[in-house]
Amino acid sequence: MSKEVVSYYENSDEIKKKIWSLLTNAVLDRSSEFRTPVFICGNETNLDGRVVVIRKVDQENNYIQYHSDIRSSKIEKIKKNPNCSILFYGKEEKIQLRIKAECVVNFNNDISKESWKNTGHISRKCYLVENGPGTESDKPTSGLDSKFDNFDFTKEESEAGYKNFCVIKCKIKSIEWLYLAAKGHRRALINFNESKNFTWLVP
Ligand SMILES: Cc1cc2nc3c(=O)[nH]c(=O)nc-3n(C[C@H](O)[C@H](O)[C@H](O)COP(=O)(O)O)c2cc1C
Repeated sequence: MSKEVVSYYENSDEIKKKIWSLLTNAVLDRSSEFRTPVFICGNETNLDGRVVVIRKVDQENNYIQYHSDIRSSKIEKIKKNPNCSILFYGKEEKIQLRIKAECVVNFNNDISKESWKNTGHISRKCYLVENGPGTESDKPTSGLDSKFDNFDFTKEESEAGYKNFCVIKCKIKSIEWLYLAAKGHRRALINFNESKNFTWLVP
């Protein structure tokens, strides 16, 4: 647990600055602990989480994005209930972030086109599976044709994956911050929809 006093220990502006810097850096830095949060969606009787990779962070417009296969089970869940939660924990930073967001699935539109263009040839591989994620199989499988399995495909061939590709845009409603420190944990809620947007909480 941290003993040093950091600039964001009890300063709301510094906390906000730290949050956005962690999120923004997560997109660029493959080894960031904040790059792979747990995305949780569903309804009262069927709720689940899975790890995703944060691909875009927009502080000005207050959203984050990740990519997915349009056939994955979370897509129907998001369409039925767009209220989702995104959970981050950085062991090194001793910071937990709990984001509540309203999500939109972007499929075959300008947003998905733009993101697809920036998705490298190798990363496109997961969108080339024949049957959607979660489809049952008689044998252990990657779901890929062996050609794709061995990375033996051209950029042109990878274009076939676009028909399965989508971008989940998560408009942030609130961020709950928890910082673990030996001299006392600190917790706060930043609410983007209310006028009093920063509230200290008992950790
Ligand atoms: C490190 C890691 C990164 C992942 N990134 C993504 C991602 O960006 N998008 C995604 O849809 N699934 C990603 N997955 C796979 C999901 O965790 C999940 O298995 C998959 O999306 C199917 O779940 P679903 O049917 O509930 O949607 C990732 C898994 C791991 C372990």
